Amino acid sequence: MFLLLACSPAFSADQASKSTFLSGIHKKNQISCADCHGKSLAVNDSETALNKNCVECHGTLEKLASKSKEHINPHNSHLGEVNCTTCHKGHGPSKAYCNYCHSFGMKIPAMGSAEQSNDKKWTQETSQKKSKKEKMKTESADVVVIGAGGAGYVASITAHDAGAKVILLEKMPITGGNSMLAAGGINAAATRFQKARSIQDDPAEMVKETMKGGREKNDPELVKVLAYRSSDAVDFLASLGADMTDLVRSGGVHADRTHRPVGGAAVGPHLVKVYRENAAKRKIDVRVNSEVVKILSDNNGTVTGVQVKGKHSGLYTIKAKAVIDTAGGFAANNELVGFYKPQFKETASSNQPGATGEGVVLAEKIGAKVIDMEQIQIHPTMGGETKVLISETVRGSGAILVNHAGKRFVNELTTRDKASAAIFEQPDKSAFLILGEDIRKSNVQIDGYIVLGLVQESDSIEGLASKMGVPAAALAATVDSYNKAFDAKNDPEFKRQDIPRKIAGPKYYSIWVKPGRHHTMGGVKINTEAQVISTKGTPVVGLYAAGEVTGGVHGWNRLGGNAITDTVVFGRIAGANAAKFIKQHTVKKP
Ligand code: FAD
Ligand code: SIN
Repeated sequence: MFLLLACSPAFSADQASKSTFLSGIHKKNQISCADCHGKSLAVNDSETALNKNCVECHGTLEKLASKSKEHINPHNSHLGEVNCTTCHKGHGPSKAYCNYCHSFGMKIPAMGSAEQSNDKKWTQETSQKKSKKEKMKTESADVVVIGAGGAGYVASITAHDAGAKVILLEKMPITGGNSMLAAGGINAAATRFQKARSIQDDPAEMVKETMKGGREKNDPELVKVLAYRSSDAVDFLASLGADMTDLVRSGGVHADRTHRPVGGAAVGPHLVKVYRENAAKRKIDVRVNSEVVKILSDNNGTVTGVQVKGKHSGLYTIKAKAVIDTAGGFAANNELVGFYKPQFKETASSNQPGATGEGVVLAEKIGAKVIDMEQIQIHPTMGGETKVLISETVRGSGAILVNHAGKRFVNELTTRDKASAAIFEQPDKSAFLILGEDIRKSNVQIDGYIVLGLVQESDSIEGLASKMGVPAAALAATVDSYNKAFDAKNDPEFKRQDIPRKIAGPKYYSIWVKPGRHHTMGGVKINTEAQVISTKGTPVVGLYAAGEVTGGVHGWNRLGGNAITDTVVFGRIAGANAAKFIKQHTVKKP
């Protein structure tokens, strides 16, 4: 979908050259509109050609990153190879995308000033004129997928491989969603990777522990599917090229079940890179800046497609026999969270800014049943006042939690609801993670927290205590007693089952942590075939859903590592069933 950009009369070359936006800066350097936009001045929603031109002139992100001397290098981030226009705007104030999640306050050229009101006016006027004048366009596909996070990519790849023509739509300027941020790993039981390390595990245990963690409020049939197909899910990821070889323990389970890349690297950026590459290899039509605003259905309630609002193209329709809703959760939506859980409204969220829950609303509007919306998970460890999640796997690797008195107060590997509740009971409603050198080395993500300035370090426990402002003798006694529990393989005070490493030097580290809004367990009700269930109890014909947009899999409290399993297991089911559905309903031409 294209919209023609007009340099005049609404936005003349003269105005452009006066602007301090990138358009003006380019004009001053004798670069014309056509140099960036191409001769036709057309821009598609994914801004592909525009970005190709940015790269041609300025180089790839990798090249730009290699030139940078900055401490935090925005061109070398976990977001991967994203569009330049994600941060740099031609006709509006540029804004570093990183600032949505981090608190760097990063400044980039052409942030904008009062003079730029012309550009704003231009953008609004032009797009309004276009949307009034143009008749709404219609395209068609076999399957439309809403939301390009993990579940969306998995469903798209699966449906494509089963022969369907797929369009994957993402409202944000980059794909990846919350899946891109996943830190810990993916849970799976009885995998070949566990067997290679002689780890005893069993899907039946995964069912039991997932149900217990969810306070037995989960849909047991969905949980069985999750657990019994989890090993296959990891094999599927490996078949796409993902590295799932490292293992660690998450809270509330008896075995090292959380799979992640070698060295303990964050699972999300790795998986999203793999998904992007696989989608590109298959030439799947992935569109960013493309928000689904309506799921369309006929008089019988059968799904017929979606209405999309493209950043440049405006409103258009895609006809499709099957729609897969993978639009994620709503933990970044203050209003919605406040509506369901007023006490969490002001809590910081670990989520990407697009995790605002429209996927639930869209499905509800065409009759989907929505469940457990008030079940919002608080993660125990976000970095101090930031939005950076400190992965549960830091505790899984051996770190302990201490309070401002330097004392442990909870089994660090209990479920999140309990760990968060325990922190809320401490003075200042915050705590510290304490770890030593071996723990740091086992989890490469900790190096990232060091770069972000979230970690304090010292050559001695006493030195660390003084930096933290906690009593040195108490902290030393706590660490000593934990190390004795490691030696005795018994933690009498808190009954922690797994202590994989001692807290030992040469360096000791602490991270100040506070609980934050992390996951929304509720959403659209589905059955084991990933069909969306209506308020009448029957499937909404042609509508499938997977991932955080759904409710029922995790009950009232999700176990760490189970969400990525959810996206892969149910994403695959949704993709396969949507493709099967369209085959059954496609009339063959004679
Ligand atoms: P998402 O990945 O969030 O994707 C949904 C996409 O839909 C988003 O890109 C969104 O912008 C888009 N979208 C929304 N509405 C629309 C619309 N109307 N039109 C078009 N697009 C739309 N879980 C684990 O199991 N292990 C972990 O280690 C882990 N770590 C985490 C760390 C962090 C910091 C966070 C925030 C979560 C973590 N989770 C983890 C949870 C897990 O990442 C998510 O639950 C899961 O990735 C959700 O995947 P999804 O595909 O359902 O949604
Ligand atoms: C984490 O690594 O703590 C997040 C894992 C999850 O949310 O499952």
